[in-house]
Amino acid sequence: MGLYERYILPHIIDMSCGAPAISKQREKVVPLAEGRVLEVGMGSGLNLAYYNPDKVDLVFGLEPSEGMRQKARKNLAAAPVEVKWLDLPGEEIPLQDKSVDTVVLTYTLCTIADFRSALAGMRRVLKPGGALLFCEHGEAPDESVRRWQRRINPFWKVIAGGCNLNRPIPENITEAGFTIDKLESMYLPNTPKIAAFNYWGRASVR
Ligand SMILES: C[S@@+](CC[C@H](N)C(=O)[O-])C[C@H]1O[C@@H](n2cnc3c(N)ncnc32)[C@H](O)[C@@H]1O
Repeated sequence: MGLYERYILPHIIDMSCGAPAISKQREKVVPLAEGRVLEVGMGSGLNLAYYNPDKVDLVFGLEPSEGMRQKARKNLAAAPVEVKWLDLPGEEIPLQDKSVDTVVLTYTLCTIADFRSALAGMRRVLKPGGALLFCEHGEAPDESVRRWQRRINPFWKVIAGGCNLNRPIPENITEAGFTIDKLESMYLPNTPKIAAFNYWGRASVR
């Protein structure tokens, strides 16, 4: 890991992912988590404040970047729930089959290199009847925005830690064998349009 990824990127991600419009999105998704939870790409722990301690037993925080785990220390100390770090990537979830009630995935599917293998792992560890709660930015519905997403993506990926602007999030999730039970989407306000289109909802395994 280079100096940029270790020392600079975590601050940039923490600041941009802490924007008010994104916090509102977290509020719509994270409080729905229950039981044993796996959060994939926990980052700087910006979701932690939104977990409901009456519903959540334990959160496994999977996060491969040491810089992000360091940046999460403050949010971790204030977390209303117990958290166990898993310092591995989403492609290598070290949990038993059918062992978690909820998988939480926010603003991370865009970044996971082998997202198909990571989604297969999430599906593997989810108990029957469990939920994948997701909130991700991705491919916009308007061709004019999509064109800019395609143009800028190669440069964006380099400065934004591997983040892709234009993944078709609902398709990625359903192609991994999940059924989407609830899906909402919109452009977030006060956000550059190329990174503003959000998809959020709930998926399960039938
Ligand atoms: C934009 S941040 C979002 C962090 C957090 N989920 C949030 O909502 O604030 C993307 C996160 O994905 C993590 N990441 C990168 N590659 C990953 C992988 N292969 N598996 C899991 N997480 C990964 C990054 O280290 C970073 O913390």
